[in-house]
Amino acid sequence: MVNRSGRLSGKRVLVTGGAGMLGSAIAHLAHREGATVTILDALLPLYGGNLFNLSNIWDEITFVQGDIRDRVIVDRVVTGQDFIFNLAAQVSYVDSNSDPQLDIDINCRGIVNVLDACRQFAPRARVLFSSSRFVYGRIESNPVNENHPFNCLSIYGIHKLVGEKYHRFFFEAYGLPTTSLRISNPYGPRQQMKHGKYGITNWFIRQAMDGNPLTVFGEGVQKRDYIYVDDLADAFLVVALTPQTAGETYNLGSGQGSSFLEMTHTIAANVKGTEVRQVEWPKDRYFVETGDYVADIGKLQTATGWQPSVSLQDGIARTVEYYRLHQEHYW
Ligand SMILES: NC(=O)c1ccc[n+]([C@@H]2O[C@H](COP(=O)([O-])OP(=O)(O)OC[C@H]3O[C@@H](n4cnc5c(N)ncnc54)[C@H](O)[C@@H]3O)[C@@H](O)[C@H]2O)c1
Repeated sequence: MVNRSGRLSGKRVLVTGGAGMLGSAIAHLAHREGATVTILDALLPLYGGNLFNLSNIWDEITFVQGDIRDRVIVDRVVTGQDFIFNLAAQVSYVDSNSDPQLDIDINCRGIVNVLDACRQFAPRARVLFSSSRFVYGRIESNPVNENHPFNCLSIYGIHKLVGEKYHRFFFEAYGLPTTSLRISNPYGPRQQMKHGKYGITNWFIRQAMDGNPLTVFGEGVQKRDYIYVDDLADAFLVVALTPQTAGETYNLGSGQGSSFLEMTHTIAANVKGTEVRQVEWPKDRYFVETGDYVADIGKLQTATGWQPSVSLQDGIARTVEYYRLHQEHYW
């Protein structure tokens, strides 16, 4: 496992989308390890940008409210950075299908903006991209390794794949050290709780805390690879500090499959009085159901020695506790 001790101290770290769930977790960790952190976030209303996510470190970071599609701002903020976590995105696969142009605009044009700005103004910066399991779409066999076919079932999945290709291209063509991480099902503190278009675990936590039943489609046996946000942030930093991962793409998940029903019952166990209700699959939702997904994280573990450390039971308990304390900032 890469020894991180002191290696971020004094380094300049930019997190695009850093007011969101994953970006703010990376920002907290990088700050704790001594980095000088800048956040670029547009705080678009549909996504999880929330300044409360940064309140603990607010006085010690630089926050720039701006859009990755705005080349002038992007040129300015990437200049002089050592590490760039390229996370800002249109995050909802549901919305990507109803508004594909917006997905192109942010997840393709915006991403190229960041990369092209890096080529010009931060050519040695280590760049990490948050891709998604949705590049695989319909799953053919589990666990899923990086050679699984791309059976994308959403515009979002297609554009995440395009995003990976852009990152790889800037590595091949210009030597920009980029790495893409295909994230499975993240959950944890600081995710938006306004809608359930992404982040179903957190959305179910909200439903339970609001006293609503948790509705499971079908038998609820489909497996997901749920990964706690602090494990994700840890993996991003480990990869960033492992130079030989440049030019590569890795699955990033817990490596464990848990059924939807297990996730739901774990929430119910943490929020007393929660009812779990099973109903038939609605037809429109069945189309985008990918089948079981369990990430094979062997490639990442071999390259970096990284291990996830938070179980689904612990992670859900911590998440419920966080929202009990800070509900007014998310509801
Ligand atoms: N949440 C998931 O289920 C999931 C799964 C796989 C991959 N990812 C990826 O991880 C990354 C982080 O997602 P998250 O879960 O933290 O979501 P989030 O909604 O909490 O964070 C996304 C952040 O990006 C910002 N943003 C959106 N468009 C922007 C733009 N044009 N310019 C600047 N900022 C913009 C938002 O304001 C928000 O703060 C995204 O790239 C997402 O696609 C998320």
